[in-house]
Amino acid sequence: MRKIYIFDTTLRDGEQSPGVNLNTREKVEIAHQLERLGVDRIEAGFPAASPGDLAAVNAVARAVKNASVIGLSRSREQDIDAVREALKGAQDPCLHLFLATSPIHRQYKLRMEKEQVKDTARSAIRYARKYFDKVEFSLEDAGRTELEFIAEMTKMAIEEGAYVVNLPDTVGYLSPYEYGNIFKYVKENVPGVEKVQLSAHCHDDLGMATANALAAILNGADQIEGTINGIGERAGNTALEEVALALETRQDFYQAKTSFTLSEIARTSRLVSKLTGMVVPGNKAIVGANAFAHESGIHQDGMLKEKSTYEIMTPETIGFKESKLVMGKHSGRHAFREHLIELGFELDEEAINTAFAKFKILADKKKEITEDDLFALLEERMTDAPEFFQLDSLFVSFDSESAPVAKVRLTTADGEVRLEESSGNGAVDSIYNAIDKASQEDVTLADYSIKAVTQGKDALGEVHVALTQEGITAQGRGVSTDILEASARAYVDSLNRLVEKRKTYGRRDNISMI
Ligand code: KIV
Ligand code: ZN
Repeated sequence: MRKIYIFDTTLRDGEQSPGVNLNTREKVEIAHQLERLGVDRIEAGFPAASPGDLAAVNAVARAVKNASVIGLSRSREQDIDAVREALKGAQDPCLHLFLATSPIHRQYKLRMEKEQVKDTARSAIRYARKYFDKVEFSLEDAGRTELEFIAEMTKMAIEEGAYVVNLPDTVGYLSPYEYGNIFKYVKENVPGVEKVQLSAHCHDDLGMATANALAAILNGADQIEGTINGIGERAGNTALEEVALALETRQDFYQAKTSFTLSEIARTSRLVSKLTGMVVPGNKAIVGANAFAHESGIHQDGMLKEKSTYEIMTPETIGFKESKLVMGKHSGRHAFREHLIELGFELDEEAINTAFAKFKILADKKKEITEDDLFALLEERMTDAPEFFQLDSLFVSFDSESAPVAKVRLTTADGEVRLEESSGNGAVDSIYNAIDKASQEDVTLADYSIKAVTQGKDALGEVHVALTQEGITAQGRGVSTDILEASARAYVDSLNRLVEKRKTYGRRDNISMI
């Protein structure tokens, strides 16, 4: 059985999803879970983008033990030096260089002729190889590049000692037939191609990202790049869980496998969704809430008679199971700690104490606490940055005859206490107006969504909020048994992330990709 290497770029291309902003601690948390899932390679970020990105990549590099950690770099020496700095302490570091090769990019973005593109890439790989044993070279927009030039660039990358050559369909333009054909062409026309691994990196603009990745495998690709839940730039990237399950379920056809521990997929998907604020649609393949639900009578009848009539894979395979009852308000710290370990959380004593305090508050409000509640609590906010605003208290008055009024008390990072009051079109609007006054931040609410974590009237409510300010977007999340409190928490969390992004990352959104 052929092994297909999995290159996860959730923390880099995935983080390029509009509004997604993971802090260092969240990146490390996701990286640990990716290791548990069994990915081979983790692209942790783009160190040259900002000092914040560099520090986050470094934290991931130091934390990860069982996967190669990769930093992205444009084909220029300063970027390569930033990756060198960021990957200090990594067990198995790798540099990912890219340069666009398509006629459109050459003419309008790079303003370079083919020879200049080749020379620029050659010098960059040569420089990079002085410092890195492992260099991956990507031909950005390979999907719209002439086949002969792809072959020429691949040959050059092999001569310069790249160990992976990546051929991305950067704009999600190709059909599976055309994308597969690029790999076939390169395999048949590039001397020495057996010395490198060929990699596929697809975007989902036309809904083809997974199909194209599988076509690449059928035509000789050794590595698939993608993200968990398929998040990423624009319509997203290849969803890695879809590739892994396609290879598993159709082993007879593909004759290839990944090293995924499949039962970790559900948990990884949930963690990425929570920390990025990108909600997984119910009908999403493999990890959507309805992916294993059978609604029609005919299907249910078939399932009762013989599961294989309508089920090609089981929810258990990917680790979907009923959320178990965990403990109640009389449970002690020791039992709580054991349970966290069982669920796979690696927390230090201080974090356990904070989590236990939150658990006790929740246990007073909610009779039964399930594993889902615990996940929601623990993944609420993982930050190592100081909070710019802290929500101390919230008061809302509401009756059906008059406009609701909210009073909030915020404390700023330098200890200033701000009390503000406001009315609004509804209870949530009045809370948000009061927080705007207290924070003195001029922001626009770009998105708001609410869902219950578990069933029942006392279920935890989880609110996601996206705020924008002068072109910067930040997502926040709040959890509480009270949806107004959850709404306020999500808003303050989003504000904190927005200020953090503005201060730490600057206008990273506008960095040139040349
Ligand atoms: O889509 C793309 O081409 C990329 C490159 C940087 C590999 O993300
Ligand atoms: Zn990409």
